[in-house]
Amino acid sequence: MSSKVRKYITVVLFLAVSMVIYLNSNYVINNWNIVIIMGILSVIAETFMVKIPGIGGVSVAFAIVFSTIIMEGPLAGVIVSAIGITFCRPYVDDIGYVHILNTPIYKTVFNISQNILYAGTSALVYVYLHSRFYYLGDIDPVSAVGTMATFLFVNTLLMTFLIHFLSGGRFLDIWSENFKGMIVSVAAVGLLGIIIAKAHDSYGLGAVVMFFIPLMLSRYSFKLYVDMRANYYDTVKALINTIEAKDPYTSGHAARVGKYAVAIAKEMKLKPSQIDTIKNAALLHDIGKIGVNDNVLNKKERLTDEEFDIIKSHPSVGYDIIKDIGFLHNVMDIVKHHHERWDGTGYPDGLSGEDLPLETTILTVADSFDAMVTDRPYRKALSVETALGEIVRCAGTQFNPGIVAVSIKVLQRYEKDIESVNREIEIKSKALAAITDDTETVHKKDDKRLQIDGSQDKFKQDDSPIGKIDEAEDDDKGIA
Ligand SMILES: [Fe+2]
Repeated sequence: MSSKVRKYITVVLFLAVSMVIYLNSNYVINNWNIVIIMGILSVIAETFMVKIPGIGGVSVAFAIVFSTIIMEGPLAGVIVSAIGITFCRPYVDDIGYVHILNTPIYKTVFNISQNILYAGTSALVYVYLHSRFYYLGDIDPVSAVGTMATFLFVNTLLMTFLIHFLSGGRFLDIWSENFKGMIVSVAAVGLLGIIIAKAHDSYGLGAVVMFFIPLMLSRYSFKLYVDMRANYYDTVKALINTIEAKDPYTSGHAARVGKYAVAIAKEMKLKPSQIDTIKNAALLHDIGKIGVNDNVLNKKERLTDEEFDIIKSHPSVGYDIIKDIGFLHNVMDIVKHHHERWDGTGYPDGLSGEDLPLETTILTVADSFDAMVTDRPYRKALSVETALGEIVRCAGTQFNPGIVAVSIKVLQRYEKDIESVNREIEIKSKALAAITDDTETVHKKDDKRLQIDGSQDKFKQDDSPIGKIDEAEDDDKGIA
């Protein structure tokens, strides 16, 4: 943990302790039953928080905290909020359920302090506004909106500072992403908080529990949607692995392209949503190879024009596969155009220059770089230096000249990683060659017996050494 993060967490802890001291000396709790029941509901709400990849967690805990503030005041609201985050078991990971005893202490301290601060400030705003606008109703709209806005502001601000200190992203970008991501959720959950408080007013604590059940059910159906998305990505990853596993030379290609493209996008300080799109597009970019015959896809010899045309169909096939899947709409065009060139001579549509989205041009550089620096069946890998030289040379023809300099700066960091990738490819291809040799011996015996004609010999690779330029073009011929 960096000293900046440590200092930041210390400041947040100090503010949270000050908040508790202030509330404890200015407010009292009359009905501890409310605190106990709402505390339990808050633990349940935080436990069943829905984790959304790239956005974070969405929980209904704010509804519980907000209604507690209305029913029993600021001190009760803060206690309920702190109980919820302290005793929840929010998710399962490699070590099993994550809870207070197996979470790093700094995370626990930050989470509890953050909850105390958002609940405390929201409660103080509610009390202040309600004392002025009480004539508008038991729960007046001005203080309700003010409370929700304060929660949204404080929560996203505290989170943004942490992400900023951890990842170094641009403060305003992280904040606006967080803010936008939470605005609808906070409004909906805040309204539920008001309804729960109203129900308590009319029917007592039993009604609060009765309202809580459908609330959790609605979160459950939302969780099913999130799980479905995650399952979809897992399925796609499995498909990609299946395609890549057939050829040791392309094994791990999508993941590496994603790593390079995301690093370039981060260096360019793109928005988190754009970075997320690039990451997903990288994972999916060659999904269309599912529709390409294995014999063509894995052919070691030079491709015929006909076979090259088949390979060239994979971006369009990939586009067709994902175009009807709602949440992949932002990646389908990138998948379709990942073999376009800046000068318009790429495929499938011959788009050029500014018609190509920035995300696509980043993916193209990452894709070509990985193809050049990894071993191929017909040639050894180019050195990182040579590959980067190729990217510079092709700036303005194959690649977006505006991103070349930053790409070079980022990609040269991966020299060591690339060495180990190629060592792995060598081991895998040797293992595969040994298996293939065995299989071929068996097949040759069968061939003699069955008189099968080995007509693939027609398109032998020409033996002339392939120079730098041809290598780059080869990579463009659907290898990447
Ligand atoms: Fe491709």
